[in-house]
Amino acid sequence: EGPCNTSGNASETASVSDAGAAAEFSAARQVERQEELALLGGGFARIRHQHRSGKLTARERLHILLDRGSFQELDRLVRSRDSPAAQGRTTARGSHVPGDGVVTGHGFVHGRTVFVYSQDFTVAGGSLSEANAGKICKVMDLAIQAGAPLIGICDSGGARIQEGVRSLAGYAEVFKRNVLASGFIPQLSLILGPCAGGAVYSPALTDFVLMNRQHAHMFVTGPEVTSAALGERATRDELGGAAIHCRVSGVAHLAGDDDIAVIQLAKELLSYLPQSAGVSVPRTCTDDPRDREDPVLNRLVPADPHIPYDMHHVLERLVDREEFLEIQPDFAPNMITAFGRVDGHSVAVIANQPQQLSGCIDIDAAVKASRFVRFADAFGLPIITLVDVPGFLPGTQQEHGGIIRHGAKLLYAYTEATVPKLTVIIRKAYGGAYCVMASKQLRGDLNAVWPNAQIAVMGAAAATQILHRNASEETSETQRRAYARDYLHALTALERGYVDCVVQPHKTRLWLANGLMLLQHKQREALREPWPPKKHDNMPL
Ligand code: HXC
Repeated sequence: EGPCNTSGNASETASVSDAGAAAEFSAARQVERQEELALLGGGFARIRHQHRSGKLTARERLHILLDRGSFQELDRLVRSRDSPAAQGRTTARGSHVPGDGVVTGHGFVHGRTVFVYSQDFTVAGGSLSEANAGKICKVMDLAIQAGAPLIGICDSGGARIQEGVRSLAGYAEVFKRNVLASGFIPQLSLILGPCAGGAVYSPALTDFVLMNRQHAHMFVTGPEVTSAALGERATRDELGGAAIHCRVSGVAHLAGDDDIAVIQLAKELLSYLPQSAGVSVPRTCTDDPRDREDPVLNRLVPADPHIPYDMHHVLERLVDREEFLEIQPDFAPNMITAFGRVDGHSVAVIANQPQQLSGCIDIDAAVKASRFVRFADAFGLPIITLVDVPGFLPGTQQEHGGIIRHGAKLLYAYTEATVPKLTVIIRKAYGGAYCVMASKQLRGDLNAVWPNAQIAVMGAAAATQILHRNASEETSETQRRAYARDYLHALTALERGYVDCVVQPHKTRLWLANGLMLLQHKQREALREPWPPKKHDNMPL
């Protein structure tokens, strides 16, 4: 057939291509339709319910978290492989919804890449199915490959009941990745709704848990099961509200009044953190001079070691622009853990708080500080330690609770840490607490004392009671004075080189800034230190 026959073929071709275009159109329309469905999650009624109960939707939360226009969604159309019947009537909507109850992808926070997943409570209560576990695992794998933080927004009833072992296996896959990522990329969990079962264990494996004060709950088993199993009645708030987890259990690190406040806290927290281990945090420009002297520091701390003061005031005068983010402010407040910046360098600060329990180290304080030290060490953040500590908290409650075991965690964490460690003894460092709080002998790099600092095995009253048990009151007083004169000072530590120097309070910021500059390449060197060969260490957990 020659070209003369083309006219007949042309109309045929036209109709074929029309059909092709129509098919293409309908395929595109089908995809579009599914995308529209995915954007609606569990549908208008459930979205309205979510809003009415004061919560944002999974997508709205991501919209607030990520820089405008930066979100790239993955797996929007992934579905449960179950038939609606297999899912049961109550969650039939869940099984039909493309996306299957979780929104995943990546974007930027303040121009830096993060990977995200956001559980959608409007679809089967945000419960974790085989399909949506696959989506979460995919972003986790990508986050590890790209070396960027992972942020999980949790609002979920845990393993999807109808999927049985497949949802349990899905959670185990998520847990495995939480552990593999631990210490390599920062992992943040934002708890913005009721979370149970696996929805609390995955966050527990991450670095920071942030909760909504009004709507977030975390429990392994909810009030109904607790009541059925133990006859114990407790409301959701009493069992696992933000107040409990921020003050009592120590499960949560930060809390905000609503979803937006929690997301803003997460963004602030990220600004102090590196993208991954081995990568530095970008140094910020600051208009706060590195050599700023602060005369208020010379009179802020009472000379009498028994008089309390607020260590926050010392800390805020040392960091750039008086800005810091305290982590777990309401849990073990006798130990302050915070991120801040000195001369633009992001730092982790650990400080005793004389205003609470006289600054004694108790079980909760030791555990809180140990985990913070380990985080800072894993992610290369220099540690600044401000010391004013009378010792470990005495008493049967602490001894029976295992203060020996838990206190050992802090000893261990400080000793193994190879990041730059700068320590300032502000007023007193007594007993084992002297050793623990980043002493030179636990591989502190630069250790300074303020002029009136006291380093001793214990305070004057306790020492006199032991050394001169049977002395009269009058003799005791004389002995106390003699002990204070002979032992309660930093002179011996300075003479032996146990501390490096005296720093004047008003010049402490400059001392810290110089130290950070001096030690900026330290971690790399420290990694070359020869260690005995071993699979891993066995820290007291
Ligand atoms: C399937 C679920 C679900 C789940 C909730 N839904 N949890 N569907 N699997 N795990 C559904 C509900 O049926 C309901 O569907 C919708 O989500 C909203 O739930 P409500 O109960 O109406 O909401 P609310 O009153 O706010 O209560 C939220 C909740 C509660 C506290 C999370 O739903 C709850 O207790 N869920 C079960 C928690 C649990 O025990 N999970 C199993 C964990 S075991 P409809 O269609 O009626 O609206 C686990 C093991 C992991 O996770 C391994 C750990 C190591």
